[in-house]
Amino acid sequence: MFLESISAFSLQGSNLGSLLKSASANGSLTPPSCYSSSSSLALSRKRDDGFACYASSRTASMQLTGVVFQPFEEVKRDDFMVPVVPNVSLARQRFIEECEAAINEQINVEYNVSYVYHSMYAYFDRDNVALKGLAKFFKDSSEEERDHAQKLMKYQNIRGGRVKLHSILMPPADFDHAEKGDALYAMELALSLEKLTNEKLLKLHSVADSNNDPQLSDFIQTEYLQEQVEAIKKVAEYVTQLRMVGKGHGVWHFDQMLLHAGDGAL
Ligand SMILES: [Fe+2]
Repeated sequence: MFLESISAFSLQGSNLGSLLKSASANGSLTPPSCYSSSSSLALSRKRDDGFACYASSRTASMQLTGVVFQPFEEVKRDDFMVPVVPNVSLARQRFIEECEAAINEQINVEYNVSYVYHSMYAYFDRDNVALKGLAKFFKDSSEEERDHAQKLMKYQNIRGGRVKLHSILMPPADFDHAEKGDALYAMELALSLEKLTNEKLLKLHSVADSNNDPQLSDFIQTEYLQEQVEAIKKVAEYVTQLRMVGKGHGVWHFDQMLLHAGDGAL
């Protein structure tokens, strides 16, 4: 009776009816070689009252790559438990503290550069300096660096990190230089700051890589690295042009070019 009832099951890669005939002939049953490793059913040795049929504890559940999806078993692991204590991110997953700290440090870099550019804006906007193009360029660049900081803050929160703002250093208030003049001196300082920012971004990227965080690596590559080398190229060209024109009248023409340029921010 029992044999009749289970004969309705079919096994992948084998025929249950022939298996049962084989088992009856031998008096015992072990899975034959044709038994599929992906089958969900298996037969045990003969018992006094018939054959036991059970769900396989191996075969399909064997994970060779770690990609196999068994949601109702895997979700029981500790790392999928949802925190219940307050002040702990629910979204955080595989986000190492070193990456979190490195993002906060990069936010500080962006804010410091923004602060220096803002000071340059205030200098070139003075009535006795009156280089309105440079003033506009550094004001836009200051806002651009602040945007870079805010984008990092948003990413920090996406990953379940905590934004910690550090102190900002006081920038210079005057940018005049006896030999170079103020425009060239400020632009050379801007070039140094952009290269320094690039170094810090590359360091942040290496922290992400060393902590096996491809999402952070991709974020830095996609949102920052390309734009940063383009900013370095642009400000390097401005330094070259300012070296050509020297001080005085030539700087006024350079300033007019910046004033009427479209989006000239770094
Ligand atoms: Fe930036």
